[in-house]
Amino acid sequence: MDHFQYRNGILHAEDVAIPVIAAAVGTPFYCYSTATMTRHYQVLADSLEGTEARICYAVKANSNQSVIRTMVELGAGADVISGGELRRALAAGASPDSIVFAGPGKTRDELMQALAADIYQFNVESEPELRLLSAVATDMGKVAPVSIRVNPDVDAGTHEKITTGRKQNKFGIPIGRAMEIFDLGATLPGLDLLGVAIHIGSQITDLAPFEEAFDRALKLVDELRLAGHDIRRCNLGGGLGIPYAGETPPSPAEYGRMVKRLTANRQLDLVLEPGRVLVGNAGILVARVIYEKHEGRRFIIIDAAMNDLIRPAMYDSWHDIVPVAEAGPGVPISEADVVGPICESGDTLAKARPLPPLAPDDLIAVRGAGAYGAVMASTYNSRALIPEVLVRGDQFAVIRPRQSIDDLLALDRPAPWLSPTLD
Ligand code: LLP
Repeated sequence: MDHFQYRNGILHAEDVAIPVIAAAVGTPFYCYSTATMTRHYQVLADSLEGTEARICYAVKANSNQSVIRTMVELGAGADVISGGELRRALAAGASPDSIVFAGPGKTRDELMQALAADIYQFNVESEPELRLLSAVATDMGKVAPVSIRVNPDVDAGTHEKITTGRKQNKFGIPIGRAMEIFDLGATLPGLDLLGVAIHIGSQITDLAPFEEAFDRALKLVDELRLAGHDIRRCNLGGGLGIPYAGETPPSPAEYGRMVKRLTANRQLDLVLEPGRVLVGNAGILVARVIYEKHEGRRFIIIDAAMNDLIRPAMYDSWHDIVPVAEAGPGVPISEADVVGPICESGDTLAKARPLPPLAPDDLIAVRGAGAYGAVMASTYNSRALIPEVLVRGDQFAVIRPRQSIDDLLALDRPAPWLSPTLD
């Protein structure tokens, strides 16, 4: 359920009409709903009530500081993947002792940065990383709180590019070698080996792979404890899917029930790293029609493109597309491809969608764009980054202004051996 609904035939974000925002900021732009984020956070938090679970919002899904701040005010910690995300999470007010640092390639500088910040946990993904963290922590006179990310070799049944828990994926330590790595870690200084972490992929729409992976991780916890390791935490990752095209992912309530059933009586602190389920349906991308072109096929050419939202081009993903002015009864609907202005056929946001006639300047909304939308944008074709707007009730705020082409050009530096340009 989200808070993007038609009122008197006009799409609103909560109590704000989308055309009002478009008039203020121009198009295209991302628009997020606070009420939707809040609801999704609360449903998930409620489903885990009675457990020692910490929800660490996966900042990679949408790292605007106002979005992170919204999550922090709801009670979330943060899951970060880079020094940059750590900076963002801290700048947005996340408490260091609620931050987990994941990812297979943390650099020495990033480890130092996170140790200096006294974060809650490092999710270590390889033996070399474990050794480096030990060395860096010892040098700094710190003890690093560590969970080892294990790869449970479970197929999450999701898109190839976002599945992470099979043995051929680059993530984690094969679960069969986990005991050996924990034994090694116990001999290294500067580490507190306190947990097991997993994350098997993203946009998972079935409970079974989660259950299989959690079960394997929890059995490992039991074995490690029997072997004398003081395991206090289990990090269950993120990955819960959302409905983009009529999928029926497990509800947070079902997910929570399963987590509670599996972890009962194990005396474990849990960490969850949800991203998409919190913000995915809390965002839309609003664009304007430039032209309609009919050449055997109907193309609607809009002012947003694959550089603004890469998911369809990258994962063949589906996003619902709706006109901002609702089509009235009796309006002829026909199929159209919705495409951007970029010079690649891959710049197609949607194919063969039933849409009413659209005129130049009409607004359309691409739904389900709150997660992995703005964060994956680029300036390909020298298209500037677009604004992000956050709505709460009848208020809206620009939480990232539109980048200007001047800003973009100013990032380049002339090579000194080239003759000066004429400007
Ligand atoms: N934890 C770890 C270690 C992760 O790698 C990820 C996502 C998450 C948590 C959050 O997963 P979520 O709850 O959002 O599914 N760009 C892709 C998704 C990439 C996901 C990467 N890792 C997309 O647009 O579908």
